[in-house]
This record gives sequence, C-alpha cells and structure tokens, in this order.
Amino acid sequence: MREKVQKLNTEFKHLDAKDVLEHFLKLYIDKIALSSSFGAEDQVLTDMILKIDANTQIFTLDTGRLPQQTYDVMSRTNLKYKTKIRVYFPDCRDVERLYHKQGANGFYDSVENRKECCYVRKIAPLKRALNGLEVWITGLRAEQSPTREETEMLEWDESNGVIKLNPLISWSESDVWSYIRENGVPYNSLHNEGYPSIGCEPCTRAVQAGADLRSGRWWWESPEHKECGLHIKETN
Ligand code: ADX
Ligand code: SF4
Repeated sequence: MREKVQKLNTEFKHLDAKDVLEHFLKLYIDKIALSSSFGAEDQVLTDMILKIDANTQIFTLDTGRLPQQTYDVMSRTNLKYKTKIRVYFPDCRDVERLYHKQGANGFYDSVENRKECCYVRKIAPLKRALNGLEVWITGLRAEQSPTREETEMLEWDESNGVIKLNPLISWSESDVWSYIRENGVPYNSLHNEGYPSIGCEPCTRAVQAGADLRSGRWWWESPEHKECGLHIKETN
C-alpha cells in the first residue's frame, strides 16, 4: 500500500489543495474525514471541504484540557456552516486511571507521563475516529517544524491503516491567513494573542513574533520530543 500511495503522491502533489480535495472527497465518499483542532489550517480546510460537499465528516478530539477559545471557535464554526462537527472524547475510565497514576498535571513531570496523557486523550480517541475510514485529512504544513519537513501531500499511515491526505502541506503561513481573510473564515482568537499553534491549554503558550511556530507547544521539552504521537511516522 505504501508504494501505491507514493505513486498517488507523485500524481497529485502538484495540484492545488481544492482540486485534490475535490478528487478525494468524490472518490472516497463516506470513507474520508478531516480531523480538526480548529487551528488556522483546519479552519481553511473546513471551509474548502464543506463548500465542496457539506456532508463530509469532520471530527475533533476533545482532550478535556482545551482552552475556552477553542470551544468558542468550535461553536462559531458550527453556526456559520450550519453543521455539528463530531467530537470524540477520551475513555472516561482511562482518564480516571491516568489521574490516579500521575495526578492532575503529571504531564509536566516527564516525557513519559506527557506521552501517556497524549495517548489517552488524543491517540486512542483518534483510532476510534479513524475506524472504518480509508482517508484521513489533516492540516499539516511542512513549514511548521523540522519534524514535518519531509511530510508529503499523500502518505500511507501504517499505524492507523489509512491514507493520510495533507492538502496544505506546501502552504505558507501567509497563504493560510490570506485564505482566512478572503473567505471570512472563523478562527481561534488565541491566534491574535501570539499563539501560532494551539493544543491543550496547559501544554500551549504564546511565542515571540518570528519564533519557531511550534515552540509554544510542550515548551518545557526539547524539540525532538515535540510531537504528541498523532503524526509520528514508523520510519522515524
Ligand atoms: S499536534 O500533533 O501537535 O497536536 P497540530 O496541533 O500541529 O498537531 O495539528 C496538526 C494536525 O493534526 C491538525 O491540522 C489536525 O488535522 C490534527 N489535530 C491535531 N490536534 C487535533 C485535535 N485535537 N482534534 C482533531 N485533530 C487534531
Ligand atoms: Fe495531555 Fe498536554 Fe497531551 Fe493535552 S497536550 S493530551 S494535556 S499531555
């Protein structure tokens, strides 16, 4: 399957995001979904996707630790597009076990604890969300971090058994914001307060202008650990 997806990537990587989405949404109807954290890139994709096919599945992983501003943009997005983006929550027994083991803020104590929290709150719910799907659309951009530089528009995700489609992989930050302004797309107000990348509230902080886009995520850890596991490749 990896080779098949590599061929598809060669075929599609020069097309623009909208054309690629049009093709895949039609081909994989009911077997394709966008995962959205309501960050700027995901909001661009939500707008493009719902304009192509208003019935396309969009889901979010609510970790239970998101900032209020993320719920605000979730609510505004649902209203604007007359939709109800699907929410996947972590298993409550897993969260109870996690609390029992590492306390309320155990993710600050070690990389191991932090990864366990991300597993319970994001990875396990993601696996549930992707079950039965063939294509997973994400808002990854190559510019976001050194760990994403080699990411392609289309990839085979072995751990989840899906084709991963990253339509904005070659977009710049200014491409994203031009699209948002030109199309009146709702966005997370934290982006106006120095947060280029937004995850859980206790694990995200504002960054200085010009700083690495993801340096405000898990800022107490060294850069090589700064992936929660959603986008780790087996080949890494
Ligand atoms: S993360 O791995 O560090 O959390 P990041 O915030 O950069 O990822 O987002 C990259 C892409 O991962 C998003 O465009 C989105 O497709 C997906 N993603 C990240 N967090 C979530 C979430 N909470 N719910 C759904 N999708 C998410
Ligand atoms: Fe837990 Fe922080 Fe990961 Fe959110 S980002 S799941 S709070 S460790």
